[in-house]
Amino acid sequence: MYKKKPFFIVFEGVEGCGKSYQSNKLFNNLKKKKIDVILTREPGGTKSAELIRNLILKDYFLKNNKEKFDKYTDTLLYLAARNEHIKNKIRPSLLKKKIVICDRFTDSTLAYQVHGKKVSNHFINNIHKEILKGVKPNIVFILKVSVKTSKIRLKKRKTKNRYDNFAQSFYTKVQKSFLKLAKNKKNYYILDSSLNDKSLENKIFNIVNKSLKIK
Ligand code: TMP
Repeated sequence: MYKKKPFFIVFEGVEGCGKSYQSNKLFNNLKKKKIDVILTREPGGTKSAELIRNLILKDYFLKNNKEKFDKYTDTLLYLAARNEHIKNKIRPSLLKKKIVICDRFTDSTLAYQVHGKKVSNHFINNIHKEILKGVKPNIVFILKVSVKTSKIRLKKRKTKNRYDNFAQSFYTKVQKSFLKLAKNKKNYYILDSSLNDKSLENKIFNIVNKSLKIK
């Protein structure tokens, strides 16, 4: 029998891996079971964090390279958005014993900023210690995708994406880093999302079901 308890589920992966699609599917599948669940994302998730998200993402498309945010400014903005998100949405929801599904969380900062951009790990960990205060995912799904599939998916998107701005090698590096972060961790699941079909949706639901003992 399902007993209400705080439970934090995170989806991670590079652009075009299908994590937004799968997190939405999981959200709907849990709702169908009448489970108290929220779906949120990073950067963003609250009014103020979404404002910060816009700042960050807009900067990637600025034409004038000289005025682009420094990588530490960028990192601090991701962390500022996370602080707002944890304080005003994630922690209060967990305290109410809700299930929280989040599209990206701390591993994105480790993969993109630390491994991708070479921002100091120590710097990020110190800030994380202050802002997380024990909030950590119960399950992390790392969705792995082939370069070919992610490119096809991103081409279909109406809104501009950062694939236009970053080299392919950057994303290969980031994906590798996600896979490394998952190594030897029992609560991490690496799933191939190249198909991103019903079988993946079922697989994810079954893993969550097993942990939560949903009937
Ligand atoms: P999204 O398009 O998947 O919502 O993510 C927005 C972008 O933000 C994506 O390119 C990954 C990036 N990102 C980081 O670089 N560091 C972070 O900590 C987070 C949460 C996202």
